[in-house]
Amino acid sequence: MNVQNIMVIGAGQMGAGIAHVCAAAGYRVWLQDIQEEQVTRGLETITRNLARQVEKGRLTEEEKVNILQRITPTTDISPVKNVELVIEAVIEKMDIKKAIFRQLDELAPLHTILATNTSSLPITELAAVTKRPEKVIGMHFMNPVPVMQLVEIIRGLQTGDAVYETIEAVTKSVGKTPIVVHDFPGFVSNRILLPMINEAIYTLYEGVATKEAIDGIMKLGMNHPMGPLTLADFIGLDTCLYIMEVLHEGLGDDKYRPCPLLRKYVHAGWLGKKSGRGFYEYS
Ligand code: CAA
Repeated sequence: MNVQNIMVIGAGQMGAGIAHVCAAAGYRVWLQDIQEEQVTRGLETITRNLARQVEKGRLTEEEKVNILQRITPTTDISPVKNVELVIEAVIEKMDIKKAIFRQLDELAPLHTILATNTSSLPITELAAVTKRPEKVIGMHFMNPVPVMQLVEIIRGLQTGDAVYETIEAVTKSVGKTPIVVHDFPGFVSNRILLPMINEAIYTLYEGVATKEAIDGIMKLGMNHPMGPLTLADFIGLDTCLYIMEVLHEGLGDDKYRPCPLLRKYVHAGWLGKKSGRGFYEYS
């Protein structure tokens, strides 16, 4: 299918990043959120990131303006009637995502593909609330979206071959590399990443080393761009806990048990960078 128009639902960090790369690749984009201020913040983030590209000489001022003009901010979901592809990037709560998918299924043209940026929720279950399960697929971008190369593509049980091929092509067209996986808890990225982060939190909890030592060992010894505790702060400790719970419940094994220290920090409201404090403090 020929995709030219994309609607991104949710203008948070991920939604804004997805709208940015799609508009930069030439797609006409609607960036939708129920909160007006969230849409404004999302656009500000995109503008700031594009301005940095202009400063570095990687983009002209004219290109920046053209990219921004291709993005229509909205709090209304009805422009979905104009698009061939929706990418949903709202909060990781299954009941909210299901409600949105039901609504999208009613309003979107029959040929429209409904993709979700979920990092761990089951695609097959989400697809089942629609009358077009063959057109539902996972499109898991990594954070920060403009920088990271990967999009993990998750095929639900009923995802059609043509839909997968379209999404693979769209992913490549926005300059990313698609890698396909099947629909199991945490997919591949978070099934491997989050237990590593959880284990790093256990080593801190058990007093094996300081947070700086744990991060330093993984950075300098394993060539990771940031240590696991810093990365947890960037992802958000609430999101880390949520994904560990999905793994623990979905796979059943004790090795996925969330570290009590992670739970304690989340209960304290220490959610990482976004709340100003996680394993580290941010001003
Ligand atoms: N948005 C846009 N661009 C950004 C950015 C952001 N939030 N943060 C950094 N950048 C850009 C910078 O502008 C810079 O661009 P240029 O190379 O064009 O100059 C580039 O990224 C490098 O930035 P810095 O030099 O400032 O900093 P750095 O070298 O430390 O890199 C980083 C920053 C790319 C974030 C790097 O630390 C990194 O790769 N960290 C790990 C990221 C990661 O693991 N992401 C996956 C998270 S897990 C996930 O997303 C899945 C999930 O479901 C939980």
